[in-house]
Order: sequence, then C-alpha cells, then structure tokens
Amino acid sequence: MAQRVIVTGGAGYIGSHCVKRLGKLGYHILTIDNLSNGNKWAVLSGELKVVDLADTVTVKEIISSFNPHAVIHFAASIIVPESLQNPIKYYKNNTENSLNLLKILSELNIKNFIFSSTAAVYGIPEIVPVTEDAPLNPINPYGRSKMMTELIIQDISNAYGLKYTSLRYFNVAGADPEGKLGQAYRESTHLITRALKTAKGEFPYLEIYGTDYQTPDGTCIRDYIHVSDLAEAHIVALNSLLNNGESDVFNCGYGHGYSVKEVISVAKKVTGIDFKVIESDRRPGDPPQLIADCSKIKKKLNWQPRYNDLEFIIKTAWEWEKKR
Ligand code: UFG
Repeated sequence: MAQRVIVTGGAGYIGSHCVKRLGKLGYHILTIDNLSNGNKWAVLSGELKVVDLADTVTVKEIISSFNPHAVIHFAASIIVPESLQNPIKYYKNNTENSLNLLKILSELNIKNFIFSSTAAVYGIPEIVPVTEDAPLNPINPYGRSKMMTELIIQDISNAYGLKYTSLRYFNVAGADPEGKLGQAYRESTHLITRALKTAKGEFPYLEIYGTDYQTPDGTCIRDYIHVSDLAEAHIVALNSLLNNGESDVFNCGYGHGYSVKEVISVAKKVTGIDFKVIESDRRPGDPPQLIADCSKIKKKLNWQPRYNDLEFIIKTAWEWEKKR
C-alpha cells in the first residue's frame, strides 16, 4: 500500500520539486496550496486542493479524509526584505498558520511532520560553516517567524509525541534537470533569478547589495543548494520518520559558499551575456556569510546530493528561465 503524504505549498518552487519526486517514488500525494505564489501546472503528481491554511475548518476536513501518514509543510512566505516591511504577514503565514496546522494534526493524531525551516534562524553565525547546534539568533522577521515555529514544533513533539524533522534550507536555486519545473514566483528577488532575468533583458541592470562586508571580495557569501537535492533531503527525512526514526533538525546546504560577485561571474559565463551590474548599498537584514555544515544529514540520513556544482545549478535555472 502506498504511503499517503500531504504537502502544503506543493504548488510552489521547492514543494513542486518534492511532489514530483514523491510521485516518482509511488507515494500517494495530496497538495494543499492557496496558489498565492504557486501554480496549478507545477503539481505534477497527486491531487491539488486550493485552500488557504488560515481556513482551518476546510483544512481539517481535507486532512481528516485523506488521513496521511505524514505531512510536509512548505507553505510559507519567504522573502527576507519583505518580512522587514510586513512582519505581520510573516508571523501570520509562517508562525500562526503552522500552529493551526499542528493543532489539526494533533487533534487527528497524525504523527509525522517535516518542516521547511531556514538558515535564517542562525542570524549572523559566529562559526562558519554553521552546525545545527549553533545558537539561534535570527536578524529578520522571516528568520524569527521560522525559529518560533521550530520551537513550537519541539514543544508539541514533547507534549503529544509528534515526530518531526526540521530542515534548515540554505540558498535554494536551480531548476528541475528534466526541465519540467523551476522558480515561478510572481516577484523575483533572489540573486540567481534576478541575474538571469537581467541577462534576459527583463531588468536593465543587476544591483549588488553591499560591497563592504567582511568577506574576501566584500560581497555576501551564501551556500547555494540545487532544488532537486533539497527535494531529495525531504525524501530521506520522510523515509526516516516513517521507519521510526527520531525527531531531529538538519542543515541543507553543500558546505561551501559563493560570494555575490562569484555568482554573477558564473551567471555571465553560463548565459554568455555580459549584463550590466551596479554596486548599491547593503540590503537590510542580510547576514554577511551563511554556509552549512551538512555533515549531520549526510551521516544520519545518508543524504547524497547529486548536483553540488554552481555552474550546473545556474545552467538548469537558465534553461528554465529561457522557456518562460
Ligand atoms: N543580492 C544582490 N542582488 C540582488 C539579489 C540579491 O546583491 O538582486 C544578494 C543579497 O543581498 C544576498 C545574496 O545576494 O547577499 C542572496 O540573496 P537572496 O535574496 O538570493 O537570498 P537570501 O540569502 O536573502 O535568502 C535566501 C532565502 C531565504 C533563506 C536564506 C537562507 O530567500 O528564505 O536564503 O540562506 F532563509
């Protein structure tokens, strides 16, 4: 019998890659998505219910009748600068909606939960690469909204026996190597997508937000992880939970970082376009350097990333972007 999995946010960028992979592996999937940032066409497997998580009555009915073995909770708002301007949106969508969902799961006695957390919970880490036991000290409302949810999950787990895996994503990028999926946000603020859209001529230039950070070339450093490798991290986490694995928290990145300038130079190489770049002021809420220590997920869950190559990541994103 196929295991049943509910995926919130399964029509979004990361969720849709995960749904595709779950479908290939034979899981029976139900996606819950309000399509605020997701797309119907992106749900390549299973059923889609278009509903907002704030509609707890409908969500509970859907979950109750599907009776899943596990829930993977992607649905969230994810843009750091927006979270500074509109924190209520972030606490509502990321913290309150997660709490509502967890309440429903505990009422329905559904025990396995995978949560999309973020490297933003670390804030400005003292030691890089950062390990999972580093202090949580987020510097923006986005990171705080996710950290609070992680804490809520731990408390609920302690009290009611929920089993969970929180995955702390670093900078997710790239597109499905088969070309079926990719980033399709209404608004593109992420570096690689912005760079590629600039190469395409959708923006007149790309801004570098800050060149005076304490990094070798003065620009921020991030650990870019291919979206399909991240989807696979959910699969290994799910298998572990479904096979009586313990609750845990894992970083998802590759363990090395690239500066904004390095990303731009690879984007220029991949596209063959020397797009215009200008140096601007720092963007509020940006930590200088975020790099994952990813040894824990490799060791405990046997996660084996396949696409640890910035050029490949940008190539897949470029193939996708050109089609759009
Ligand atoms: N950047 C630019 N110009 C741009 C866009 C971004 O210079 O046009 C810079 C940013 O200032 C930052 C870096 O590129 O230094 C990466 O920025 P992104 O917006 O691509 O991503 P963030 O690091 O802000 O955030 C992303 C996700 C978060 C997640 C975080 C974890 O959006 O959800 O990675 O590392 F928490």
